Amino acid sequence: MNTRVSVPECAQKVRALVLVGFMGAGKSSVGEILGRRLGWAFEDLDERIQQREGRSIEQIFAESGELFFRRVEHAALQESIAELGTNPRVVALGGGAFAQPENIALLEKAAVPTVFLDGSVDELFRRCTEQGRPRPLQSDLELFRNLYATRRERYMTASLRVDTSGKDVETVATEVAVALGL
Ligand code: S3P
Repeated sequence: MNTRVSVPECAQKVRALVLVGFMGAGKSSVGEILGRRLGWAFEDLDERIQQREGRSIEQIFAESGELFFRRVEHAALQESIAELGTNPRVVALGGGAFAQPENIALLEKAAVPTVFLDGSVDELFRRCTEQGRPRPLQSDLELFRNLYATRRERYMTASLRVDTSGKDVETVATEVAVALGL
């Protein structure tokens, strides 16, 4: 566990947590379960982005490109963080959000505990393929592996890392809650 942030203290005070990690890590599924169990709201940041834009993530990438998507993603995260004081919340970020230094800085400033859901790249790829949901940045396994490798260092700056390999989402949710003392 990364010790830069005192996780339980931070989680109690802010009453929020943010799930980060690569595509297929189970951020949204685990986030929904945690929200239900803790009685906290759950937010999928990609949903907020789609609502702001009135189009799907796939359309945003195809019509406006990744750079534009990252700008909207940053604005959506700012907005979500600004709302944290009002009610406790679990937020799942898209796979690239925590690879952007400006987003990491925002979360650090807000002192929100961040949880890196990790897993073997082959398993992450298999989960994405099985889900069949269009993901603009999921191409072939080699590119998927390379993208994961370029992001991993950033993900490792999260407050806590939980390995999801071979685990179901309920088990992962329990591990996160226990580790955060929730
Ligand atoms: C992305 C991951 C997606 C979504 C967008 C970009 C990425 O979210 O935000 O397609 O850069 O890895 P998931 O991690 O939920 O698939």
